[in-house]
Amino acid sequence: MTRFPQTRLRRLRRTPASRALVRETRLSAQRFIAPLFVKHGRNRREEIASLPGVARLSPDLAVAEARAFAAFGIPGVILFGLPEKKDETGSEAWDDAGAVQETVRRLKKELPDLWVVTDVCLDEYTPHSHCGVVVDGEVDNDATLPLLAKVAVSLARAGSDMVAPSDMMDGRVAAIRSGLDAAGFSAVSILSYAAKSASAFYGPFREAVDSAPKFGDRRGYQMDPANRREAMREIALDLEEGADVVMVKPALAYLDVIREARARFDAPIAAFNVSGEYAMVKAAAANGWIDEKQIVLEILTGIVRAGADFVLTYHAKDAARWLKEGSIPA
Ligand code: PBG
Repeated sequence: MTRFPQTRLRRLRRTPASRALVRETRLSAQRFIAPLFVKHGRNRREEIASLPGVARLSPDLAVAEARAFAAFGIPGVILFGLPEKKDETGSEAWDDAGAVQETVRRLKKELPDLWVVTDVCLDEYTPHSHCGVVVDGEVDNDATLPLLAKVAVSLARAGSDMVAPSDMMDGRVAAIRSGLDAAGFSAVSILSYAAKSASAFYGPFREAVDSAPKFGDRRGYQMDPANRREAMREIALDLEEGADVVMVKPALAYLDVIREARARFDAPIAAFNVSGEYAMVKAAAANGWIDEKQIVLEILTGIVRAGADFVLTYHAKDAARWLKEGSIPA
């Protein structure tokens, strides 16, 4: 290898054209999945204070918002629901008349090409807000599995293309896969929140769906943020159980986990650029402390560069608009 002064890496950085030609990571709206929060009703929009620009929407307005996403070239959405009532088993999560199920049916009718992902978890639907059934003060893994499979089947029946278990019970991917197959939904895919850490970055999401645990915390089932090797075991197990895509969550403090998963596994990898990551950017931008557009595109580029094939992000619509305007990267 030659070196300075023969080698000058600045030569290819001189103009927008040369930079474009040698750019290694190309961000595209096709890599985004946009989250939607849905609740019962009509023409309802409730802003979420800690997630500026994101709202809880009734199914009709959720479809309108999804149409806007699609117009920017975003291929898919992930739905989270708010129930009318909560109970110990989270039964509204598998109610075919639930807000998520209704929204999925409308989405598949009005925007059939949009890829519809639905979150599978009980935390929004239980009074204690834990991700499973509580027995003697603890989340009971095995008692939760059949309920998760029921939720997935109900969401598949509504028309979901992909279900995304976010509960972190052991064995849930296998339970969901066999539940789906037994019900005739072998074409419905599974996006597993495989390496999901017990993270403070979910704060704004929990405000959005009122799911902060009413006792204890989620460290008994979500991963210790300190453990990268364990994250690889989680991913390997979920792939063995039949996950089609494995996800790392959160994204920004876990880029090394994404990177290592990319090196070790050939399966598609997703990353969730979660609510707290979004809220920090929005807060700093509102104060004029950062350039929101540049920061967002840099963050998303970093997540893709680390190895994510696609990114679940609340920035999806803004980022897709900026990319369409051709603003990145100059
Ligand atoms: C659980 C779930 C959570 C998120 C997605 N699915 C919250 C949690 O585990 O407490 C967080 C997403 C975000 O913060 O954007 N159903």
